[in-house]
Amino acid sequence: MAHPGCRLGTSTATRVEPCQNSREAGKLRFGSPIVTVLSDEEVKLRTTVEAALALVIVLVLGAGFWFFGGGELGGDGSTETTTPIVVDPEAAGRGLQLANNSGCLACHTVDGTPGTGPTWSGVAGATVQLESGESEIADTAYLFNSIVDPGSQIVAGFADVMPPDYADQLTEAEINDLVSYIQSLAG
Ligand code: HEC
Repeated sequence: MAHPGCRLGTSTATRVEPCQNSREAGKLRFGSPIVTVLSDEEVKLRTTVEAALALVIVLVLGAGFWFFGGGELGGDGSTETTTPIVVDPEAAGRGLQLANNSGCLACHTVDGTPGTGPTWSGVAGATVQLESGESEIADTAYLFNSIVDPGSQIVAGFADVMPPDYADQLTEAEINDLVSYIQSLAG
């Protein structure tokens, strides 16, 4: 590379002058056409050009990330369904007790097979098809509402037979525990 201390002045180095500052200069062979020695001005020019090139590369990469990253985020709008479901294990444990005691498990299974009602296995976070033709993501609000007002969003393929009075029988905290239990079965 460049050694500012060696001023050979030609690009083909047909003539090599003594050069104390460079160890590599001792390796130069007379008449070697492959050895290029740069002057101070050339070094400055090259440094400037390299800096400009680096800047261009950074800008191009940055623009690429912005462009393609943005495209992915806006692409299929799937970001909300991939939000991980965080479940408090104690709340889920209380929910299991309540599901037993309140008779939920007479109609709902937790092993994937449908009963009188849909299975709770894997429902949390999934997209649920409704009798109305619409679909809903089974987030916390959907599950809560399914318990307190089951007739408002009937799951496709099922009858409107779930008792509508759980909001009177259970406290809000108990319903939240039931939701936590159902969310712990997300899979
Ligand atoms: C007599 C049977 C029956 C009982 C008891 C019952 N359910 Fe249901 N449940 C259903 C049916 C049928 C559906 C589907 C129709 C609808 O959406 O209302 C359903 C739907 C649901 C849904 C929505 C599921 C989905 O796939 O979207 C949730 C959540 C739910 N029930 C929770 C409960 C809880 C919690 C209890 C107990 C506190 C309970 N159910 C008791 C019959 C029952």
